[in-house]
Amino acid sequence: ELMNKVKVTWRCPSNIAIVKYWGKKGNQIPCNSSLSLTLSNSFTEVEAELSEKTTDEVVQLAYYFEGKINEQFGQRVAKFLVDNREFFPFIAEKAITIHSSNSFPHSAGIASSASAFGAISLALLDITYSLEGKEKNATFYEEASNLARLGSGSASRSMFPGFALWGENQQIRNSSNQHAIAIKEVHPVFQNMKDAILIIEDEPKKVSSSVGHSLMNNHPYAENRFKQANERTAELVEILKTGNMEAFIQLCESEALTLHAMMMTSMDYYLLVKPGTITAIEKLMEFRKESKVPVCFTLDAGPNVHVLYPKAYEAEVEEFIGNGLRDTYKKVIFDEEGVGPTKMNS
Ligand code: PMV
Repeated sequence: ELMNKVKVTWRCPSNIAIVKYWGKKGNQIPCNSSLSLTLSNSFTEVEAELSEKTTDEVVQLAYYFEGKINEQFGQRVAKFLVDNREFFPFIAEKAITIHSSNSFPHSAGIASSASAFGAISLALLDITYSLEGKEKNATFYEEASNLARLGSGSASRSMFPGFALWGENQQIRNSSNQHAIAIKEVHPVFQNMKDAILIIEDEPKKVSSSVGHSLMNNHPYAENRFKQANERTAELVEILKTGNMEAFIQLCESEALTLHAMMMTSMDYYLLVKPGTITAIEKLMEFRKESKVPVCFTLDAGPNVHVLYPKAYEAEVEEFIGNGLRDTYKKVIFDEEGVGPTKMNS
């Protein structure tokens, strides 16, 4: 017997990839492994509630984003529920209402699909678990990661604290295409990383990530790129273990530029960086050379610059961001390594 009232709230953070996922096949299977840092302040909160169905649709979903019905994303979520209904058997009998909100401004240019699909997967899987009377243990997060992947690949990595790896890799035990895994052996120098997100432009991007992924099919450099990313994933695991900051900086920045190089060399080709992106990168590299402060940049599929640095150097870096980089961005969001998702009291 289903309970009359089921309501849960989950908070799921965003993440920033160091080794980039770019290119996919089949049912959301990555062409290479990727490795990211889970964030803290940039998150999505989802409240999911069941009620009696009033229609005979396969799924009856009302999806609200920040208080307003969002048809477009709601349809994507409804499709996600139908496609994965073996995980959500309750959709046959129950209507679902989802209220979603982000901690970061709507048009900040921060990718929200990772945190959104993360939080949606957690909330709905939690409902399935409680209806079936199942205990939540470590495999709950693996299953949630698998589901999140099916919604948005990068979301799979938001389920774990600190660094997380997604995608089968010959050199990494337990790595999987289905779900991400936590990287647990992390040297102290990488244990308190900060990420200052410089919002260079806040317009919606011209080319979606899913189009970007598909342009890796028949891309002239695809094969080498996937091989490189797999090798770099394994290298980064070692770097995180041994605490080699110089190697981290080099790998991280090259990954960012390689991601954008893939966009510039695909057919159709396109460009997501803006003049402010380039200026910020050049100034950051100069600052590092002169100050010897271990700080580096990365980019996701957009113009914004993520500035990564150990918490021990926050005074120097944040002074530089406030003064040296001030002309390059519209606003800055200070974030840092996070502990992963949290269940809230509904
Ligand atoms: O999860 P998606 O399909 O939105 O792809 C994200 C791709 C990048 O953010 C550019 C890289 C990554 O690994 O997160």
